[in-house]
Amino acid sequence: MKNLTIGLFGFGVVGEGIYQVLKDKPGLKTTVKKVCIRDINKDRNAPAHIFTDQPAELLFDPDINVIVELIDDAEAALPIVKAAMEQGKSVVSANKKMIAENHAELIELQQTFDISFLYEAAVCGSIPIIRNLEEYFDNDLLNYVCGIVNGSTNYILSKMQTEHLDYQVALEEAQKNGFAESDPTLDVEGIDAAFKLSIIALHAFGELVNPYQIPREGISQLQTEDIESATALEKKVKLIARAQHHDGELELSIKPELVGDDCILSEVNNEYNGVLLGSSLADEQFLYGKGAGRYPTASAVLSDISALRYGYRYEYRKFNRVNSVPSLVSIP
Ligand SMILES: NC(=O)c1ccc[n+]([C@@H]2O[C@H](COP(=O)([O-])OP(=O)(O)OC[C@H]3O[C@@H](n4cnc5c(N)ncnc54)[C@H](OP(=O)(O)O)[C@@H]3O)[C@@H](O)[C@H]2O)c1
Repeated sequence: MKNLTIGLFGFGVVGEGIYQVLKDKPGLKTTVKKVCIRDINKDRNAPAHIFTDQPAELLFDPDINVIVELIDDAEAALPIVKAAMEQGKSVVSANKKMIAENHAELIELQQTFDISFLYEAAVCGSIPIIRNLEEYFDNDLLNYVCGIVNGSTNYILSKMQTEHLDYQVALEEAQKNGFAESDPTLDVEGIDAAFKLSIIALHAFGELVNPYQIPREGISQLQTEDIESATALEKKVKLIARAQHHDGELELSIKPELVGDDCILSEVNNEYNGVLLGSSLADEQFLYGKGAGRYPTASAVLSDISALRYGYRYEYRKFNRVNSVPSLVSIP
């Protein structure tokens, strides 16, 4: 088992969470040596000497063998992650936007520099979806992956449904309770869900998909009457991300769908996420858990960090198969 010395980027909701979790787990033989943040003058709940606003202090420190990237700026994250890989450091990230927009390049860099690049927390927070798709579902043929992958919109829809709030009031409540950003566009327009679905598509079906080309409809146009009509039909409105094989083609969509109580996704409420996996042998399976929040997300980051101790990396076997043997794309 390797000892890990971490350079942490970001000390916000998730960054501070993973810092505190690692501090309380000395048995993991993992230390955070330095933390890079944007504003060096903010008060922090950790010793001042570990903080810097100079990325180079982490990226070029030969003692640091892992960079954990947990910043909220996808454009700034990309050069950080690339520089870390070029320095031979493994990387853990939760940044779905940065990953979805640059997946091909990041996979190539992982191979070129022979490091691990893990990102379980980028999709559905605490739910171990990526590693399941990558490892467990390597043999059984998946037919579909669909579910609720965005906690903010699910919270808003749940409040509209159960408390009869209109969209704007439910959004404001989600923001007040920390379940939605002050600029909620990425969530409510389904863009965040598209980032996650493109990452899912790669690990489930081996297909690299441009997230901006996924047909998408958000929830911002939903009216109270739409929710009431659904209730009259004994259904709920849920923002569903769907990746499904149909006649050998992979079909992807993000859109509000009516879900009846015969589908377990109707039980996924508030900030929770849930994903259904349909496969040829196992039929249907269901993963459920918190899609966001400090410690749920930190648990997925921690799992990636632990996996680095035995050198784990995604092998993208389905992607490599799809790309080297094109006929395998047409899974019956
Ligand atoms: N929050 C969640 O529940 C959740 C769930 C799943 C995935 N994620 C992902 O996790 C990542 C972090 O999210 P978060 O909610 O923890 O964000 P956050 O609370 O807004 O914190 C962001 C942190 O990044 C730092 N930062 C921003 N730009 C930087 C830069 N250029 N260089 C160095 N540090 C920089 C900020 O520094 P200052 O403190 O100085 O401002 C802050 O500490 C994002 O990619 C997000 O999508 C979050």
